[in-house]
Amino acid sequence: MQQRQQLFLILSLFLVFQTSNGHNITRLLAKHPSLSTFNHYLTLTHLAQEINRRTTITVLAIDNAAMSSLLSKNPSIYTMKNILSLHVLLDYFGAKKLHQITNGSALAATMFQATGVAPGVSGFVNITDFKGGKVGFGAEDNGGSLDSFFIKSVEELPYNISVIQISKPLPSAVAEAPTPGPSELNITGIMSAHGCKVFADTLLANPGAMGTYEDNVNGGLAVFCPLDDAFKAFLPKFKNLTASGKESFLEFFGVPVYQSLSMLKSNNGLMNTLATDGASKFDFTVQNDGEEVTLKTKINTVKITGTLLDEQPVAIYTIDKVLMPRELFKAAAPTPAPAPAPALAPEEAADAPKASKSKSKSAPGPASDSPADSPDGDPADQAADESAAASFKGGRFVAVGLSFMLMLWLL
Ligand SMILES: *[C@@H]1O[C@H](CO)[C@@H](O)[C@H](O)[C@H]1NC(C)=O
Ligand SMILES: *[C@@H]1O[C@H](CO)[C@@H](O)[C@H](O)[C@H]1NC(C)=O
Ligand SMILES: *[C@@H]1O[C@H](CO)[C@@H](O)[C@H](O)[C@H]1NC(C)=O
Ligand SMILES: *[C@@H]1O[C@H](CO)[C@@H](O)[C@H](O)[C@H]1NC(C)=O
Ligand SMILES: *[C@@H]1O[C@H](CO)[C@@H](O)[C@H](O)[C@H]1NC(C)=O
Ligand SMILES: *[C@@H]1O[C@H](CO)[C@@H](O)[C@H](O)[C@H]1NC(C)=O
Repeated sequence: MQQRQQLFLILSLFLVFQTSNGHNITRLLAKHPSLSTFNHYLTLTHLAQEINRRTTITVLAIDNAAMSSLLSKNPSIYTMKNILSLHVLLDYFGAKKLHQITNGSALAATMFQATGVAPGVSGFVNITDFKGGKVGFGAEDNGGSLDSFFIKSVEELPYNISVIQISKPLPSAVAEAPTPGPSELNITGIMSAHGCKVFADTLLANPGAMGTYEDNVNGGLAVFCPLDDAFKAFLPKFKNLTASGKESFLEFFGVPVYQSLSMLKSNNGLMNTLATDGASKFDFTVQNDGEEVTLKTKINTVKITGTLLDEQPVAIYTIDKVLMPRELFKAAAPTPAPAPAPALAPEEAADAPKASKSKSKSAPGPASDSPADSPDGDPADQAADESAAASFKGGRFVAVGLSFMLMLWLL
């Protein structure tokens, strides 16, 4: 595969995220009883939700008999999710386009690729037009065998979603491999391998915080890990915290509920974290800025720059800077007459359930005397962020770096 093609596919992955739109895959498939098992499993694996949130996609559906053959191997629900996510192409292929593929063959990225768990090219599907109008499909890691064929177009809502039926499931050793349940996920391993090693190492060195993350992996967890350069520059400030401040600080980067990127884009507002404990709020605000998702506290604002893992119930994202909780840090700029904090109803914080924490905490951190009540704004942001900004000039650089990293990883 050519590098340019890969780069294009990777860039398209960054662009496919999209907020709610008209279609409902469950309803679309309900009109077709021969696809009911497939439909049922899209719901069970929560893929239906992801499909409904996206546009420009193609679902390769298989009938009840083909689903029975898949299910006869007793795959876990996590494995089933990988297999089915390989059947969702992140591009629109109506019947017409399928039969008119330039040069007869195309590679399509899939939702399996987008989860971040598909190594190499295993998340891509090869579509090839054969002589006589036959169209074959195969997973790209499948040794070139394309033995599943186009049967018919089921539903087409150009160019939002196309549902087509294929003759049998796409075999893929990688997608079919037994998938570890979330409790077997090595979240620090995933972070270490993809740009958040300093944060992961710091977390591993703090058994209290690490335990809190582990306790929440099964029930749903979203992690926002600061990239290495930013976190490294922040270490002196981290080391300055008390023991309980360190633990709360590390827990502040986890949210006790699964959040896909599209969920983050559509649910703006306050979010509790693993560090939230009664009066110690340790929350932050999620806010969209166009296609960007930012996380804000009264001290600073950071941007989500990439997705390391998105496999319900766990998602891990990278952030460009170190988000600072107001419970532990003061805005560095001299504060003008304290403006009233924007009134946020407590209900808004109910978005995220409380973390399951067994222990109680003493008041954290040396700077926790009084939360710095400076208005949100650039001067405070910049001052508080000096060290991180020195080594990180902005999200775009990070995004490009991340694409490059992903590309190397794919090669
Ligand atoms: C999609 O349709 C199904 C069946 O009609 C319904 O149960 C479900 O709530 C719908 N989902 C959304 C997001 O509207
Ligand atoms: C199709 O094939 C032609 C000639 O081999 C080549 O120049 C062109 O780049 C190919 N197009 C695509 C989209 O691969
Ligand atoms: C798809 O697979 C066929 C058959 O193995 C191969 O000839 C073709 O080059 C592949 N297409 C792409 C775009 O990789
Ligand atoms: C595609 O989605 C958009 C909203 O994103 C909607 O306005 C449009 O009607 C949809 N098209 C079809 C054919 O359903
Ligand atoms: C998780 O990954 C880290 C870093 O790669 C490694 O040191 C650790 O042994 C792994 N833990 C498990 C339980 O595999
Ligand atoms: C550490 O704390 C001391 C006392 O509060 C302060 O003077 C110093 O600037 C802090 N160092 C860093 C790196 O934040």
